[in-house]
Formats: sequence, structure tokens, C-alpha cells
Amino acid sequence: MTMGVLAVLAALSLLGAVHAEYHIVRHASLAPRSRDAAVLPAAEFTVPFSGKAPRRKSKKSALAALRGKSRAHGASDTVVVDGSAFDEEYLTNATIGGQHFSLIVDTGSSDTWVAQKGFNCFDIEGNPVSQDTCAFGTTGFNTAASKTFQPFPNVSFNITYGDGEFLSGPVGLDTVTIGGMSVDRQEIGIPTLTAWEGDGINTGLIGFAFPDLTSVFNTTDPTKASASNQIPYSPLFNSAVKQKKVKNPFFSIALDRGSFDAQANAPFDPNLGFIAFGGIAPVPVVDKAVTVPVEGYSLTTGAPTGGPDSDFFFYTVAVEAYTFGNVSVRPVGSPILDTGTTLNFMSTDVTAAFSAQFNPPAVFDEDFGLFVVDCNAKVPQFGVKIGGKTFTIDARDQIIPAGTDDEGNIICITGTQDGGPDEADNIFILGDVFLHNVVATFNPIDAEVTLTQRAKY
Ligand SMILES: *[C@@H]1O[C@H](CO)[C@@H](O)[C@H](O)[C@H]1NC(C)=O
Ligand SMILES: *[C@@H]1O[C@H](CO)[C@@H](O)[C@H](O)[C@H]1NC(C)=O
Ligand SMILES: *[C@@H]1O[C@H](CO)[C@@H](O)[C@H](O)[C@H]1NC(C)=O
Ligand SMILES: *[C@@H]1O[C@H](CO)[C@@H](O)[C@H](O)[C@H]1NC(C)=O
Ligand SMILES: *[C@@H]1O[C@H](CO)[C@@H](O)[C@H](O)[C@H]1NC(C)=O
Repeated sequence: MTMGVLAVLAALSLLGAVHAEYHIVRHASLAPRSRDAAVLPAAEFTVPFSGKAPRRKSKKSALAALRGKSRAHGASDTVVVDGSAFDEEYLTNATIGGQHFSLIVDTGSSDTWVAQKGFNCFDIEGNPVSQDTCAFGTTGFNTAASKTFQPFPNVSFNITYGDGEFLSGPVGLDTVTIGGMSVDRQEIGIPTLTAWEGDGINTGLIGFAFPDLTSVFNTTDPTKASASNQIPYSPLFNSAVKQKKVKNPFFSIALDRGSFDAQANAPFDPNLGFIAFGGIAPVPVVDKAVTVPVEGYSLTTGAPTGGPDSDFFFYTVAVEAYTFGNVSVRPVGSPILDTGTTLNFMSTDVTAAFSAQFNPPAVFDEDFGLFVVDCNAKVPQFGVKIGGKTFTIDARDQIIPAGTDDEGNIICITGTQDGGPDEADNIFILGDVFLHNVVATFNPIDAEVTLTQRAKY
């Protein structure tokens, strides 16, 4: 889930103003210094994913749009397909201070947080609502019941995610254990104000992106959070490396695409892939790995750059080409690899050209604000060339049932949607639609990503 951390917004949008005067030229060093990775070692700690329920912006807006459409047409109630039958989020079991929680695994943000017992729930518009509305899986983290909890005074946590959810509150330190890997004194957000559209299972999230994307601020009043009082800290996996809990400074993710059949009867899918720490996720692959540098963002232009004048926020990688049918596009803007976003968000041009190649073509629906497509359409093969290798996306990831219309017909959206004009400082997303097809190994210490095409499953 991409996140509008104040720092990124401040840095990048401030620079946006400056940027107009710059002609953005990609640094030569941007050419990926890719190499075939040595065979990565097996992981020391491997945790299966389980999954449930949609909560992502793309899906949510699709559902909202469907409801809106029904109203607009003054027709009978639209029956929205239960998202859990068609969509996943990736959850993992963890303990914080010995208390059990299910947490979302998110490579598009950096904070680990868990709702604090007694939290006040709000809707996305900021209106107070009942605690139930936030739909957390537990009543929240009880700091008093943790033997290892320590408060971190005089600071606060404040985060807003790309889909509009936001949280704020105090900060603490506690032991976080996931899959046998136990990190001591990890800095965590323990929000008391939560605007969250939960799934009844998760109570928070683990962020795996870079330290500069963390959301703790040097003020006890979270409304006074700003880029100037941000206190970046070590995210969970970085702490694990510092504390020598893992031999290798990388973690590896294999996200399975959910089987609609399997989920039709049970909203909870216990087997949706793996996250592995210190080694590679244990799934079959068909090709050699390629390793590419993560792009930082230039502090003078706001655009991704390989140069020393840059800050790392997301797992941003340079794409050499998007290929589909007879088209090959070399993009200007770089995407981030984000487990917390369901769909791919590509440039307007790429999305339009790709949509046109479905048979019948996917068309942009003004009401939904999304490309919709016949659920049985023929899907063009979509390739993403990174580090000299083209990774292909399975057709099953490119048509996503999003709900039903007034007549009860299932409406499908495409897996690759419009993320805006192809500009260097625009953030595009390779979400779960892409990640279902690769093993992605993330190294936040050396700022590298290793990708391997998975065997068909
Ligand atoms: C996660 O925890 C829940 C509840 O404690 C349990 O039912 C489930 O089996 C656990 N899942 C895994 C993959 O360990
Ligand atoms: C927090 O602020 C109080 C009052 O300003 C101060 O006395 C205390 O030393 C601070 N604590 C820390 C850990 O910075
Ligand atoms: C937080 O702000 C206080 C002044 O209000 C300053 O003395 C302190 O060094 C700051 N702490 C950090 C970690 O930046
Ligand atoms: C987070 O900080 C911003 C200012 O940067 C503020 O407008 C917002 O109200 C804060 N959010 C919460 C929930 O405190
Ligand atoms: C690409 O294919 C489309 C039809 O699939 C065709 O209309 C178009 O002319 C082709 N373009 C080129 C450059 O071959």
C-alpha cells in the first residue's frame, strides 16, 4: 500500500514545484547494474501467508462505484459480490509483546503498528464511529499486559495510506516475533485514533520499506507531524539485520494468487504463499534470478535516480520495457513493488494501449473510474522487462471480478489500471497482479531487489 508519508509528500511535492524548471534527465547510473544472482540460500525463517477480504483502494473504489452506478441508474439494489471470494490481502501471524495478532504484510510502507486497546475508530472522512466499524481482528494491543513494552515518550505516530485510511497515536518499543524470528525493542506505532476499513482479522500492519518512509514525529501532538520533525527509525526487518537475527540482509516474498473456487466457500484462505527471512521463499521457479538496484528519489528533482543525492523510500525499480502484443514501451516513470496494493498502476499510455489489446478490448468506465472488461476476454500477454529479463504476468491476474451489476452479472476490471501520466516523479505500482508471478527478494540494506519468474501454478 503506497503511503503518503509526510516526508515523501513534502520532499517530492515541494520538489515538484522546483521540478517544473528541471528537464529531467535520467542519470547514466540508472542503467540497471543487473546481474544474474547467485542461487539464493534457503531461508532461516519462513512464514506462510493467509489471506482475506478486500480493503484496497482499487477494489474498494470499484465496489463503491458499482453501488454508485446502481444508485445513479435508480435501479434495484446492487448485490456486491463478497470481496473475500475474489480478492486477497496478505496476512501473517505475529506476536507483539507476547500478544497474538494477524498483520498485513506491506512492502509499500515502513511502519509496524497495531491498534491499541481502547482505540477510537473513525471513518475515512474523519467522523467518529463505533469501534466495530474499524473491524480489527482483536480488541487491540494491551500495553499493560506486555512484560516487554516500553513507551517512547515525547513522539507520535501519524500515517495516512494511499487509500485514505489514517492512524495516529503514541509510539512504543516491544518484542515483535514473526515465524520464529524475534526482534527486540522494535519501535512500533500503537495508534489510539484509527480510521481503518478492517477485515475482522488483522489488527495492524508490518511495513517492510525503507527507514526514511517511517512515520514517527518529534511531537506529542500527532496533528503537528511534519517533514521537519520526522524521526526516521529502523523498520522491523532492518532491526532484525542489526540484531543479527538473520544471516542475510534480505527477505523474500511469494504471493500466491487466490483460487476463487477455494474461496467461494471459505472467506479465509490459509495458504497464500510465503514470506521468508534471510533466504528465498520456497516455491518453484523457472528461470535464473536477476538482481537490480533500488532507485532512490533525487532530493533536487523528486525523480528516481541512481545517484548519491537520493533517499530511499520504496522498492522502486527501473523498467526497461512493458511489452504486450506487438507493442513495447520504454517508460519514463519507475514503478514500486508493493505487496499492499492489489492492482498494477501503470502510465496512462501503457494502460490504454494494453487495454485496447484485450479481445474484446477493455474500456474505461467513467462511472467506475476504472477499465472494465468482459470477464471471459482474451488477455494479451503482459511482460515487464527488468534487469534484462522479461517477467510475464499470467492472464488470470489481468481480469478481476469486482462485483455484480443490477442484473446480477459479474463485472470485471483489468489488473492493470491507469496510474497517471508517464512522468519521472510519478509513482507507479507493480502490485499483487505482478507479484503473483515472481519470487521477489528485497534487500533494504544494500538497496537491491532480486526477481525470479515462478513456475506456473
Ligand atoms: C494464525 O493464527 C490463527 C489464530 O491464532 C490460527 O488459527 C492460524 O492457524 C494461524 N495461521 C498460521 C498460518 O499459523
Ligand atoms: C520528554 O519530555 C519531557 C518534558 O519536556 C522531558 O522531561 C523528558 O526528559 C522527555 N523524555 C525523553 C525520553 O526525551
Ligand atoms: C526533539 O525536539 C527537541 C526540541 O523540541 C529536541 O531537543 C530533540 O533533540 C528532538 N529529538 C530528536 C530525536 O530529534
Ligand atoms: C497527521 O499530521 C497532519 C499534519 O502533517 C495533520 O494534518 C493530521 O491531522 C494528522 N493526523 C492525525 C490523525 O493526527
Ligand atoms: C499492432 O497490432 C494491432 C492489432 O492487434 C494493429 O492494429 C496494429 O496496426 C499493429 N501495430 C503494428 C505497429 O504492427
